[in-house]
Amino acid sequence: MGNSFEAVKITDDVYWVGAIDWAIRDFHGYHTGRGSTYNAYLILADKVTLMDTVKSPFFEEMMGRIRSVIDPAKIDYLISNHSEMDHSGSIRQTIATIQPEQVFASPMGAKALVEHFHLSQEITPVKDGETLSLGNRTLTFLETRMLHWPDSMVSYLAEEQLLFSQDGFGMHLATSERFADEIPSDILEFEGAKYYANILLPYSALVLKLAKRIEELGLRFSIIAPDHGPIWRKNPEKIIGLYVRWAEQKPGNRAVVAFDSMWGSTELMARSVADGLAGEGTKTKVLNLRASHRSDLPTEVLGAGALLVGSPTLNNGIFPTLADNLCYLKGLKPQNLIGGAFGSYGWSGESVKQLEALLKEMGVDVACDGLRIKYVPDQQALAQSREWGAAVARQLKGRLGI
Ligand code: FEO
Repeated sequence: MGNSFEAVKITDDVYWVGAIDWAIRDFHGYHTGRGSTYNAYLILADKVTLMDTVKSPFFEEMMGRIRSVIDPAKIDYLISNHSEMDHSGSIRQTIATIQPEQVFASPMGAKALVEHFHLSQEITPVKDGETLSLGNRTLTFLETRMLHWPDSMVSYLAEEQLLFSQDGFGMHLATSERFADEIPSDILEFEGAKYYANILLPYSALVLKLAKRIEELGLRFSIIAPDHGPIWRKNPEKIIGLYVRWAEQKPGNRAVVAFDSMWGSTELMARSVADGLAGEGTKTKVLNLRASHRSDLPTEVLGAGALLVGSPTLNNGIFPTLADNLCYLKGLKPQNLIGGAFGSYGWSGESVKQLEALLKEMGVDVACDGLRIKYVPDQQALAQSREWGAAVARQLKGRLGI
């Protein structure tokens, strides 16, 4: 009987044996519009090693790919770089099937795997900087705590200069192509930025620390093989450079206007505010939060210099879409933003002050007093909205020194 799935050769001794999740559209609250992959890798060294597993429903796909190159019973070692269930969800079945001699994880990973899966299999903890001989190959482990969980580590295969980077340098992108050089660069940059903004942004200081450590250790990479999305085999420095840029969060001359509207008045204001920003030469993106997903806002905010939020007053408060989006964005800890709040109101009009308070809680520097317009904005109110947007743009440019 033939095999339904085939492994993909990365080097003479390393194969991709992961799974493609074409259908996933919600990854713990993040809209994955192009699906994802769960990458696992097989190293055909003297000690045959499986690097990570896949999300539980994809166990058979991974096993099929493994069987296309080797009898799974020949796998000696299993390494878990990260215990989140998209990578370890099938670890119990994998251990039962391949019966590895040893399973390795970081010290926190070893604990997390036992606590998640109540494993009877002993997990061998490997320390930061520790090496493991595979006979003719050597793996070195580097702990990368909080990138993306406290248990996270990466594994470096010295002889191939290949970094198994786990969540780092990844993206949610399902493709039939396995290598980044086979995929249009605009798609890579968009999905990479979206993934960074929604998963790793709060840990940006740690990303910069890791980049520095890689440099200090003098590690060279011919290939970066993450656990999601394509493998970087040509110019792997590109994804490292993008990560450093995203982690630095340097504000650009770019603004995001995010709003919701009840009867269209706050929307009219949003459009004029955006026109005022753009008129000052500030690139502006308008997001109607009713028509976008909460994971779109951090994607747009990444690299922006200003965040302007608009809401009408509903039952003495802000619209639920604003509460939802700003709660989610706050958790991602965006830095270096100026901002402001606006909205139409009928009688009580609390929304603008509440939005300003939320912006301040997020560490956004509220650059201009909030703008409130009663009921439906007339031409004068729209001109005032436009000027308010222009004033924020001038503040931003002043701070950027342009
Ligand atoms: Fe892909 Fe943090 O799991």
